Amino acid sequence: SGSENPAVAKEATLESKDNLSKKIALEVARRRTFGIISHPDAGKTTLTEKLLLFSGAIQLAGTVKARKSARHATSDWMDIEKQRGISVASSVMQFEYRDHIINLLDTPGHQDFSEDTYRVLTAVDTALMVIDAARGVEAQTIKLLEVCRMRNTPILTFMNKLDRETRDSLELLDEVETVLKIRCTPITWPIGMGKNFRGVYHLLNDEVMLFAPGNEKADQAFEVIKGIDNPRLTEMFPLEMEQLKMEVELVKGASNPFVLEEFLAGTLTPVFFGSAINNFGVREVLNALLDWAQPPLGRNATVREVQPTEPAFSGFVFKIQANMDPAHRDRIAFLRVCSGRFERGMRLKHLRLNREIKVSSVVTFMASSREQVEEAYAGDIIGLPNHGNMQIGDSFSEGEALQFTGIPYFAPEIFRSVRIRNPLKVKQLHKGLQQLGEEGAVQVFKPVLGSDLILGAVGVLQFEVVASRLMNEYGVDAVFEGTSISSARWITAEDKRILSDFEKSLAHNVAYDAAGNLTYLATSGVNLRLTEERWPKLKFHATREHS
Ligand code: G4P
Repeated sequence: SGSENPAVAKEATLESKDNLSKKIALEVARRRTFGIISHPDAGKTTLTEKLLLFSGAIQLAGTVKARKSARHATSDWMDIEKQRGISVASSVMQFEYRDHIINLLDTPGHQDFSEDTYRVLTAVDTALMVIDAARGVEAQTIKLLEVCRMRNTPILTFMNKLDRETRDSLELLDEVETVLKIRCTPITWPIGMGKNFRGVYHLLNDEVMLFAPGNEKADQAFEVIKGIDNPRLTEMFPLEMEQLKMEVELVKGASNPFVLEEFLAGTLTPVFFGSAINNFGVREVLNALLDWAQPPLGRNATVREVQPTEPAFSGFVFKIQANMDPAHRDRIAFLRVCSGRFERGMRLKHLRLNREIKVSSVVTFMASSREQVEEAYAGDIIGLPNHGNMQIGDSFSEGEALQFTGIPYFAPEIFRSVRIRNPLKVKQLHKGLQQLGEEGAVQVFKPVLGSDLILGAVGVLQFEVVASRLMNEYGVDAVFEGTSISSARWITAEDKRILSDFEKSLAHNVAYDAAGNLTYLATSGVNLRLTEERWPKLKFHATREHS
């Protein structure tokens, strides 16, 4: 009413502002946002299921599995398309554990390996690296870890499948250190392996957790025996305990001590041994995530660093999933909240378009959807439905001009040239590729010479997706052909004249990407190295920022 005392009203606003700040600070502090990086078949799906079991979201555990088998069963894109309803729901999973809110972002690592996989990692604060202890460090893990290193993302390591014959544990640590160039500090140590797997010894707590084949129950507890010198252990496993004591001596002498700061700086990884399928050792990793990993931190934007506890909302789009419903061409933009509180129905500024939008329908990702989530805080992911006007790297705020940085495009590794069967459709082809390029489905390069477009991707499935979508959405029957290109680098130079010299001299290997950036298309590793040597004043970039 109009008769309110303005001083009282002002005080009330101040107080509620104060409450909001407190609420935001509390919510941020209890959030952890992470992704799992692994080579296919190391056990990511299994581990995800077990993590969800702890949160009580049991009904979803089956879903993760179901989704994977659906994907395995077919390589046909249109069938994958049908699975998308599920795939959106499980590409971000939010669950509660020990009064924390945990966001687990899926990093597809199978045949649908793509640029998305890389970019998802820009939206996580911590990564959990799963290694098949029988196989050691594998190709895709190496790639994914490189991406984590760009932002010094802290890494937890889980050595999986100890219930099988594995490689020697010390050798595994050594391989992680030399191949992945990250120092290891074992937190648990396995006692035996395969048929003789007895359990793990917790080096910090000085206790042995006995292995028993796990089942699907969420609250399974394994027997714990305190003290490595406990006579009970010697009685139970005389030989193994002797071996363990020797190994522990060795490990303590040879490996790095756990230093929290070094873990947080991404230079040291705590290592846990276990068996995901038996649910063994999984809880220890989850606890480490809560105890050691940090809640969402400040994020860099063009103008300043944005703190997660700031009252005003902000966030950026790191992934777009298109055509949930082919008839409507709708897309979901996955936005990571960076500050403030998101509330359903709030007005947001879409900075690139300098336009206000009202967000009334939004997708949230509770693993156990008991309640409808109405609000989100830093570290959370929300899905914004749109019709193609949102792009990867777009920032949203309550008004301030904040463009978040650090959302990269990665130099593609596989290339195809594209032609169309019906030349009259060339306009549709260009329009389709422009839009698919903006969405991040594929990268499109226009060579300086010639008229064929070049498509670049990091995963082969990206081409299948693009072909199928060009046909279905734009009516274009495109033909993809192999090229002699083996890698691409974005080129910059302080002296613009050198750039144009370069473009003229190497016109056969130079192209512009969809955003108009000069790119060198190398025909081999040697070719790239020679070109770099011949043009020392140019910079060759393997990644570029959203522009
Ligand atoms: P991914 O998502 O990383 O690709 O791996 P996923 O969890 O699907 O696991 C790959 C295979 O490894 C699965 O077997 C899974 O059961 C198995 N696995 C996962 N963790 C463990 C473990 O701790 N010990 C053992 N022995 N096996 C494990 P699969 O035969 O491919 O599938 P399924 O038929 O068992 O589902």
